[in-house]
Amino acid sequence: MKFTTEQILDLYREQAAKHGDGGTSTIQDIRTRVLEIEALAAHLSDGEKVLEVGCGNGFVAEELVKLFSIDLDAFDFSPDMIEIAQKRKIENAKGHVSYAVNDVLKLDADGLYDTVLSERCIQNLVSWDDQKVALENIVRALKPGGQYVMLESFWTGLNNLNEARGELDLEEIPESWHNLFFDEDKTIAEMERLGCSYVDQNPFLSGYYFGSRVLLPALMPKGKKVTSNSRLNDYFSALPPAGDFCPMKIVRFRKN
Ligand SMILES: C[S@@+](CC[C@H](N)C(=O)[O-])C[C@H]1O[C@@H](n2cnc3c(N)ncnc32)[C@H](O)[C@@H]1O
Repeated sequence: MKFTTEQILDLYREQAAKHGDGGTSTIQDIRTRVLEIEALAAHLSDGEKVLEVGCGNGFVAEELVKLFSIDLDAFDFSPDMIEIAQKRKIENAKGHVSYAVNDVLKLDADGLYDTVLSERCIQNLVSWDDQKVALENIVRALKPGGQYVMLESFWTGLNNLNEARGELDLEEIPESWHNLFFDEDKTIAEMERLGCSYVDQNPFLSGYYFGSRVLLPALMPKGKKVTSNSRLNDYFSALPPAGDFCPMKIVRFRKN
């Protein structure tokens, strides 16, 4: 096994202590966070009952209930993260969110939700077998016709990114130690086996990653460090999502 559940819990205990209720918790690149929220919001509508799986410190859930009059259940298996989420004082919300500790591997909801979201959570499970259990539980939680908005990391984007970097003699970016990225074809086949149809995908970070992870390091004068808070990233993060150059993207499924 590449990593253990205990290591994951330790990682998010540290993240909780370091970032509190901030948007940089679990993702230090704040432009990625902003683009993630915009992309998720494009798939929500007022009046929906929504589940967010692996909500971390609840930052995204707070933003979503400010944007939509949705009834949102958000859970995470890190008690440290949920303690922070439950202390949020959310003002000017159109919708309602409740935060709870739960494990997606034990999720026991049946036909309750119009939309289930996950944001870099199922990639944290320790094996494909566990990931399949999580996908099955998510599908069970959906109403017939409900959608799963899967914002997770896929190999296609990382491979394309590394191929582009290789052409410019930049070293490969590895899959991070605490993640098991998804094989797109295998994931779609599994979701179809579970009674879902593939809807579409949105490689919303592709332009930004091509700029910030390929062009920026190639352009940077020798010896100068590339950081995600570079001013050039203001431009790259505004690029349209051409190609498939970021592991993280949204893949959507609908329960039949
Ligand atoms: C990369 S973080 C993302 C958190 C949040 N979605 C965000 O955008 O900040 C992954 C989250 O998944 C949670 N997680 C990992 N395994 C889980 C499980 N089995 N059930 C529920 N949550 C889990 C972790 O505790 C962590 O908060």
